[in-house]
Parts: sequence; C-alpha cells; structure tokens
Amino acid sequence: MDKKYYVTTPIYYANADPHLGHAYTTIVADVRKRFYQMNDYETFFLTGTDEHGDKVARAALEKGVSPHEYASQISQKFRDILPRLNASNDRFIRTTDPEHRKVVRHILQKVYDSGDIYFSEYEGKYCVGCERFYKDTELVDEKCPDHQTRPELIKESNYFFKMSKYQEWMIDHINKNPDFIRPERYKNEALGFLREPLEDLCISRPKSRLKWGIELPFDSNYVTYVWFDALINYISGIDYLDGELFSKFWPVAEHIIGKDILKQHGIYWPTMLKAAGIEPFQHLSVHGYWLFEKGKMSKSLGNVITPLDLIDKYGLDAFRYYLIREMSFGLDSSFSEESFVSRYNADLANDLGNMVSRLTKMIKNSCNGIVPSPKKWTEPEEKLEKIAAESRQKLIESFDTLMMHQAADSAIHLVRSINRYLEETAPWFVAKQNDQDRLDTILFTASQNTVRAALYLLPVMPEKMLEVFNWFGISPKDQWHLDDEPLTPGLKTRIDKKPIFPRRKFKAKASSNQPKKSGKSQKKSQKTKPSVITYEDFAKIDLRVAVIRKAERVQGTDKLIRLQIEVGKEERQIVAGIAKSYDPDDLLGKQIVIVANLESANIRGVESKGMLLAANHGEKLTLLSPEQPIRSGAKVK
Ligand code: MSP
Repeated sequence: MDKKYYVTTPIYYANADPHLGHAYTTIVADVRKRFYQMNDYETFFLTGTDEHGDKVARAALEKGVSPHEYASQISQKFRDILPRLNASNDRFIRTTDPEHRKVVRHILQKVYDSGDIYFSEYEGKYCVGCERFYKDTELVDEKCPDHQTRPELIKESNYFFKMSKYQEWMIDHINKNPDFIRPERYKNEALGFLREPLEDLCISRPKSRLKWGIELPFDSNYVTYVWFDALINYISGIDYLDGELFSKFWPVAEHIIGKDILKQHGIYWPTMLKAAGIEPFQHLSVHGYWLFEKGKMSKSLGNVITPLDLIDKYGLDAFRYYLIREMSFGLDSSFSEESFVSRYNADLANDLGNMVSRLTKMIKNSCNGIVPSPKKWTEPEEKLEKIAAESRQKLIESFDTLMMHQAADSAIHLVRSINRYLEETAPWFVAKQNDQDRLDTILFTASQNTVRAALYLLPVMPEKMLEVFNWFGISPKDQWHLDDEPLTPGLKTRIDKKPIFPRRKFKAKASSNQPKKSGKSQKKSQKTKPSVITYEDFAKIDLRVAVIRKAERVQGTDKLIRLQIEVGKEERQIVAGIAKSYDPDDLLGKQIVIVANLESANIRGVESKGMLLAANHGEKLTLLSPEQPIRSGAKVK
C-alpha cells in the first residue's frame, strides 16, 4: 500500500475537562482518517494531552495535588472520552511519557549544537492562559485577546531559539506550498504575522519560577517552554528516534487545529523542524471556533458544553453528523441545541431514516423482504445514477478541500434525489398495475442509492450507517471501500421496529446545555433572536396571494375579523386579529399574502383555514400586499 495518511489533533491541555471544541477537532481527525481508510490509504491517527507548563502547574496547586497527579487525572478523562466519540486513534500521547521527553531533549540538544539556541536576558508580557509572551501590538486594551486578562510582566534570563533566522525561509515555504496552511484565510493570516519582523522564541523557564517541565539537556536550572515541548509530540508520537513509523508517516502529516493556535503551528513548529533538520509537515488544516451565545466556548468564559450530555441525549452519530454538517471548516459556527434538533430531524429522521424504512417496507410487501434484481433501465434510473456519481465525486473533492460539511450534504442530497425518483416513478402505482419487473427495478435502484448514501456517510456515522446496511441485509465487513457496492439482489432485509433515527423534539427547558437565564431574559432573547430554521423547513411553507371578498367582525370580540378570501379558484374563510387596525369595509378587494398550508384552526368557534401576514406598525398592524396587483393564488417565494 503506497498511499499513506497521518492525522493529528492538538494535544489538549491537561487543566480542564474535555468540551465540545475538543470533541470537534477529534471527530474531524477521525472522520478524515476513516475517509482515507475507505480510499485504501494506510493511516495513523495521533491525539493526546499536553501536560507541562504554568497552566497545569497552577491548576494542580489550586486542587492541592502534584502536577503529575493532576495531569494524569485530566489526561485520563481525555483518554476515556475517545471511545465515547468513537475516535479511532492509533495512539494516545502524553508529554509526560518518557519516550516523548527523550525526543524533546534530543531535539533541543540538536538545535543547541547547531548554534540556533542562545542565552539572554528578557523582559516581556506573559499570558499564562496562552503560555506565551505578547508584544504590545498584539494586546487589545492591554489584555490578551483570547483570555481577556492582563499579561504579567516578567523579567528573567532565558534560552532563546533563533526563530528570526528562518523568517525568509518560512515566507518562501508558505508561498511555494499553497496547501501548507489551509484554508487560504489562515495561510494569509500566517503570512500576515510574517510581515512583521519575526522575534526569537524564548524556549526555557527558570526552575526557580516553574519546575513542572522537561529539563533542558544543556542547563539543569531550566525546564523547556511548554510549546517547544508540546509541538514535538507530533514526531515523538510516531517514534521519531526509532524511525520506522516516522519515515512512513511524517511526509504525509496533516495537523488539524483550531485557529487559536495558528501561530504556534504555522510558524514556531515549522521553524523548529527546519532548525532540527527535519522536513516540515504536509498540511496544517485550521478550523474556526464553535461559538456559544456569541463567544468562543472556553472554561474561562464559563460557557462550556459537555459533549457527553449531547451524546447521551441524541446519540453519538447524530452528534458527529451535526458537528461535521454544521461547521464550514475554517469558519466559526454557532452551536445551539435547537439547530441540532432541527438538523437531525430534517436530514437524519425525515430524509435518510425515513427512506430506509419506506424502502424496506415496500420490499417486504412487494418482494417478500428479498432485495429484488433490477430489470430494464429507463431514463429516471439513468438520471439517478448520474446524481449518485456526482455525489461520490463531490465527496472526494470535499475531503480534499476540507469541506466535509459539503461531503455530508452531498450524501443527503442523493437521498433527496431518491425521493424525487420515487415520486417520478411511483412504485405504489406500479404495484397496483402488477408490473413486477418495473417494480423490482425501481425498488432496487432506490435501495442501491440509499445504501450508497450510507456508504458515503460511513466516516461520519460509522455505527448508524452499519445499521442502515443491516436493514438491507448487508453483512458486516471489517473495512468498507468507497468503490464497494454493498447492496446486491437476493439479500434478506431486516426491518427493526425502532426507526434508525427516531424524531426528536426540542425542549428548551429540559436542556442542561443552555446557560441558565431568568425567565424574563430568556423570553427577551427569544423575541430578539428568532431561531434558525433550515431551508427545507422554510420550503414547506406555502405562501400565496389572495383577495379579500367579504369581511365582518366576529361577534363577542373586538380583535377578530372573519374574511372570505379567494386563493386562485378556491374560496376559503380565515379569521384574522386585525379588527383594531382595519375597518371591515376597507378590506374589500385588497390583495394579501397568506400561509395557505397551515392546518385549520377553530378561533372563537369560527373555522380559519390559513393565516394572513401582517407587520407590526406601532400599536397597529399593517397588511402585507404585493407591490402591484397580481393574479390571486400566485405563489410567494
Ligand atoms: N495544548 C495546546 C495545544 C498543543 S498542540 C502541540 C492547546 N490545548 S487546548 O486544550 O487549549 O486545545 C485547543 C484546541 O481545542 C483548539 O485548537 C481546537 O482544536 C480545540 N478547541 C477548543 N475550543 C474550541 C472551540 N470553541 N471551537 C472549536 N475548537 C476548539 O491549545
């Protein structure tokens, strides 16, 4: 196998519990590994914990335990969550592992011997949260832009890495390798850092200030700066000193990170590698933040979402699907449980899950539960085949360009196309006509493409898609490939009573993930910030132009008017709460816009079939009408 792929996540700080942001990066790495595996790549996936440095030492002190004990506890939590995320990592690295420590000291010695590390005095502003010094120009209102805290002024003698020496090389490397840092906005951001003179990097901490770290091999009074230590995990985690895994996987390394640590990965790390005589990694793939109530989710901001709560509530694969589908890689995304539920219901319960139940039921009723053989192809089959091929192509391109949300979307698009295919070919009608050959062709074609969609979604939902396979009678296999055609005639379908994706309801109050707010402010925010609906949800609303033919007040109320309206050829009655704004006589002949497919309601004993649209205008309401008279019944888009 000569195709290889090595993917890493950042190693997470062992100072706080795992949250949704960490889960996202881990799941992205996992989805990418699974996708490349399906394309016959030999893969390696590394994740782990970053355990040295001020941050962990201070957190341990607060808890009254040793840094090592504290880091071990948190590291275990990160390790334990991996199977819960179904992460298929091949190794879990801790920076306290003896092998890692050995590699760090080896690299330090190598760079020191080559003359790229020197000793000097330094005074600077240091943010403990970021574990780095800040220049004045990088601070916002004299505060760290990420942690919104004032950095501490620190003066001490330290060792420095001659990072400045590599500025020109770094610019050149980024320019010559347009995919080195991606998406492009982050490449540009890295080049932006490099427009300023690059400073040397302080890579040590005196033991008098911090003992919790890897001792410098050339001065026992110092420990290694945590970033110089942590970045090296990417090579120590593939046995750099031993060489075998390293030589196989290092040339194809892809680091997945959040945008908060771009500078360390896009500049410190490649220059460190260069100084140590090691080739740079292949890709740095940078994603945006999950935002929650407008801020980045972080412990210090107190708006942390625990992934396990969501997984327990909605299931792991639904969680993985939402994270991948909802975030355009590279951009920020807002998390809300409400959008989670609406995405789940639209794509998974309604489209995919429903399609699997419908088809297996039809196969049960018309083919004794056995997947039929397709017979003669006609135009609709050709058309669907073309869409499936496009969807597969889009999937591959999307993974190449990191647009995994498009990959997920293209699979669901295929399911929607199957729906249209069924509408067009009407198997229920064909069944009545007893045309078994045609029915077999339709049911096979629709099922085959549903299974293909499930295959395309396998990296994102590795468990649930196997359930889809199971419904169609497909036996499990160790490794599926993108070119497989798992559905074959003759398989015996197995219908489960429980749907694959049962519909969910969003109950705002039951959510443990929404920040606690007073009832008043909750109401206010609901009013000012309407919830997001999907395009599909919106497309369900049938808005029409109607003409008012008759209008009269409803007895016993001062608010309601009963309207007889004409919608195209149809006449219907609606009741509207506009009596305080309009006189019935003024309404006659007016063109209005109504929601035509709203279920009937009984308002004060009067039937209302639909609802008109009106806007608040001070205390009054004003009707929405077309700008110029048009045909009644016209669709509003
Ligand atoms: N220990 C360093 C990384 C060293 S790598 C050599 C570190 N750790 S961290 O625990 O703070 O993890 C940061 C990473 O977690 C981000 O780069 C990102 O991958 C993920 N996320 C943390 N919060 C996030 C969001 N709110 N949204 C998306 N991902 C985020 O930095």
